[in-house]
Amino acid sequence: MITLALSKGRIFDETLPLLAAAGIEVSEDPEKSRKLIIGTSRPDVRVVLVRASDVPTYVQYGGADLGVTGLDVLLEHGNQGLYQPLDLRIAACRLSVAVRADYDYASAVRQGSRIKVATKYVGLARDFFATKGVHVDLIKLYGSMELAPLTGLADAIVDLVSTGNTLKANQLFEVERIMDISARLVVNQAALKLKQAPIRRIIDAFASAIPSA
Ligand code: ATP
Ligand code: PRP
Repeated sequence: MITLALSKGRIFDETLPLLAAAGIEVSEDPEKSRKLIIGTSRPDVRVVLVRASDVPTYVQYGGADLGVTGLDVLLEHGNQGLYQPLDLRIAACRLSVAVRADYDYASAVRQGSRIKVATKYVGLARDFFATKGVHVDLIKLYGSMELAPLTGLADAIVDLVSTGNTLKANQLFEVERIMDISARLVVNQAALKLKQAPIRRIIDAFASAIPSA
């Protein structure tokens, strides 16, 4: 049995065409069912539905053989023990710094002020600002980061941006791009050895169906 960990929503939806290329069709719509283990058209392949931030953990410890996870989640989790054969080029976005219009980020950086930064990505933000030599107080949040500068909780946020609509709707401005993000295929290293042929076939099929740049 091959177990693939996916999160509901955009990762699940955007992985479906890659699964189709591997001849795998999921037998249930996760938005309509409460099931956490979903069968597929292949008796030897199943999908487990986990929180986006739990995908690397499931694959690292062998709860799943493979998984699809954002680079943001992967870097924040640490990629120990995970083989990363493919950039799937799905769920594309960027990790950026954003502030309110009345906050002068450039001069705060220039003057060496302490900046209060709210984010779900504490590790990535810490590394980014440390490399720049900027002093920050990091505030860990689990969602709705955009609210932090609007309520005075923070001066800035580090969050994902795609269309920019969420920032715009909350009158925030992107002031620095930290990195481009896309979803990655991750594989448990022991599973890759023990189930080499079927896992290789899935990797190759996914590779053939990656959207072009
Ligand atoms: P959790 O449930 O663990 O809090 P989440 O709500 O962030 O996770 P999703 O919103 O489904 O989960 O995001 C999954 C992945 O999709 C992210 O890790 C990121 O790589 C990517 N992503 C997030 N937001 C966007 C977006 N607006 N556009 C494109 N890709 C995105
Ligand atoms: C993500 C991210 C931003 C938004 C950016 O949230 O946290 O809020 O997308 O996308 P945009 O630039 O296209 O507006 P998501 O939609 O995943 O909601 P979530 O916070 O519940 O995960």
